[in-house]
Amino acid sequence: MRTVSRLQRALLRWYARNARPLWWRQQPMDPYQVLVVEVMLQQTQVDRVQRLAPLFLQRFPTLESLAVARLADVLQAWQGLGYNRRARHLWECARIVVARYGGQLPSEPEKLRRLPGVGPYTAAAVATFAFGRQDVPVVDTNVDRVLRRLLGLHGASSRQIEQRARELIPTGYSVQWHQGLMDLGALYCHRRQPQCMRCPLRRWCLSAGQGGEGSRRATSEPCFEGVPRRLWRGQLLRAVAATGELCWEEAAQALFGLQPTAHQRAWLREVAASLCRDGLLCCRDDRLCLPD
Ligand code: ADE
Repeated sequence: MRTVSRLQRALLRWYARNARPLWWRQQPMDPYQVLVVEVMLQQTQVDRVQRLAPLFLQRFPTLESLAVARLADVLQAWQGLGYNRRARHLWECARIVVARYGGQLPSEPEKLRRLPGVGPYTAAAVATFAFGRQDVPVVDTNVDRVLRRLLGLHGASSRQIEQRARELIPTGYSVQWHQGLMDLGALYCHRRQPQCMRCPLRRWCLSAGQGGEGSRRATSEPCFEGVPRRLWRGQLLRAVAATGELCWEEAAQALFGLQPTAHQRAWLREVAASLCRDGLLCCRDDRLCLPD
């Protein structure tokens, strides 16, 4: 579907320019190291994982080194990360993988899931980020929130979200796609006050401009490309004020760039009409200007 591929490209392009420079993305990681980081990220904040994951992986650089360690040493190396059961689970994981899989983590999410402390999210993350699987949706809380808003699926079950998430993966770009969704959730698509104005997906998002949890009820103000009309009105007035007057084409380009679509031109007419009705803008000889 064309819309989906344009949406996918918009996110991938945004991610290429705006990816968070996270430590584990900036060096080669083997599947064991990916597993360790993903287990840490289950319940520990990104900043803390950035600081502590390198130290843990220095102490236990390979799955074998973790499997032969004493649990007490593992727990000690886990200090500062909290939820210590995860350390024990990781240690058990390492021992099971040595015993059952000859020290090689399996790439199938179903097998990964059978390991202690590995839930659906972690299994999917390892399958995707460590093994490059292209058909496994990786749905953490950020991705879940972004997709629910984007697709207008606020009351959907996790299974429905997972299904839609699978359909949306751009084959060949699953890693960047999922990390892009995660970053979008962390940077703009916040739970409480989403910054739709800055979102690269706002023109496709069924919830754009509606605010976040706990915000006032969505206003009935019309929106275009996720941006409320009052902001478009301000932008148009500023563009006209900057030059004194604009023809329709110049105004459309000031708002939408070099090649405005028919939809965008129609929206410009609507915004201009609302400003004219309010006495804030005039249209003379097909040119927009400020009232005398
Ligand atoms: N990249 C890979 N896994 C990630 C995660 N859980 N959070 C943020 N970025 C990631």
